[in-house]
Amino acid sequence: MNRKGILLAGGTGSRLWPITLGTSKQLLPIYDKPMVYYPISVLMLAGLREIAIITTPEDQSQFQRLLGDGSQWGISFTWIIQEKPEGLAQAYLLARDFLAGAPSAMVLGDNIFFGHGLPEILARADAQDTGGSVFGYHVADPERYGVAAFDADGRVTSIVEKPKVAPSSFAITGLYFLDGRAPELAASVKPSARGELEIVDLLERYRAEGTLQVERMGRGFAWLDTGTPGSLLDAGNFVRTLQDRQGMQVGSPDEIAFRQGWIDRARLAERAKVFAKSSYGASLEAVLKE
Ligand code: G1P
Repeated sequence: MNRKGILLAGGTGSRLWPITLGTSKQLLPIYDKPMVYYPISVLMLAGLREIAIITTPEDQSQFQRLLGDGSQWGISFTWIIQEKPEGLAQAYLLARDFLAGAPSAMVLGDNIFFGHGLPEILARADAQDTGGSVFGYHVADPERYGVAAFDADGRVTSIVEKPKVAPSSFAITGLYFLDGRAPELAASVKPSARGELEIVDLLERYRAEGTLQVERMGRGFAWLDTGTPGSLLDAGNFVRTLQDRQGMQVGSPDEIAFRQGWIDRARLAERAKVFAKSSYGASLEAVLKE
C-alpha cells in the first residue's frame, strides 16, 4: 500500500513569542520561503503525494491560503484539526481515517533537513513495510529532544523525551516512518506527565517488538532547529549561504514537483511567473532553462 504523508503543524511549540503573536511560526520565512515548505519538501522527496496537514483550529485557514489544495505541486492535501496540543502521537489518531491502514511518514512543521543522499535515506525508510524508521542526529543539546540510548553493541535500548541527563548525544529528529499499525498502537499510548501522547512512547512499542530502525544521520547532514529567534535566523543564514553559493534551492516544493514529474514545464513556468521578481521565482526560471 502506498505510504501517505503527515505534516504536523500544530502545538504550542509553533508559537515563537512575541514574534508570532496569534499565528504559527511555521508560516514565517526561513530566508526566501515559508518554513513549512522545507518539511513538505522532505515528504515530496520521499515520493509522497497524499499529505494530511494537521494544524490548530485557528491556524488552518492561514495554512490553506498559503498551501492551497496541493494541485500546484501535483499532490493533494487533506486538512485535519488538532484541537489541543495533546502530543505528536495523537496525530496518528486524528489521521486514522486518512491513512486507512496505509503506512506513513510524519514530519514536524518546523524541522529542516538538508544533506547529500537525503533522497536515498528516505527511499530506504520508505522501502521498509513493517515497523518504523527514525533518524538520530548528534546535537550539542540533546536534553531538548527525544534522545536515544544505545547498548554496547549500538542497539537502541530506549528513547526518552527531554531527559534531564541525556543518555547519548543523539536526538531523534521529527521525521517518523511508521507502518500501517501506527493509529492502532497510538491508541494504547497513555498521556505523559505533561499531558501529551508522546511520540517516544509510540516508538517504544515498535522498539520493544524489535521493528524500530534508528538510522543515524551523519555529520554531513544539517538538521536545523527554529525554536528560538536566534536559531530561526541561523537557519535562514544557512539556507542563504548554500543557495547563493550553489545557485540551487534548498526546500523548493515547486522544483521537486517538477523533477518528480508531477508537474510539467508549462505548470512550472506558470509558477515561476507567480513568484516573478523574487529569488525563488528566479530559481524556478533557472530550472526551466537547464
Ligand atoms: C518533539 C518530540 C521530540 C523530537 C522533537 C524534534 O519535541 O517530542 O521527541 O526530538 O520534536 O523536533 P517538541 O518539539 O514537542 O519539543
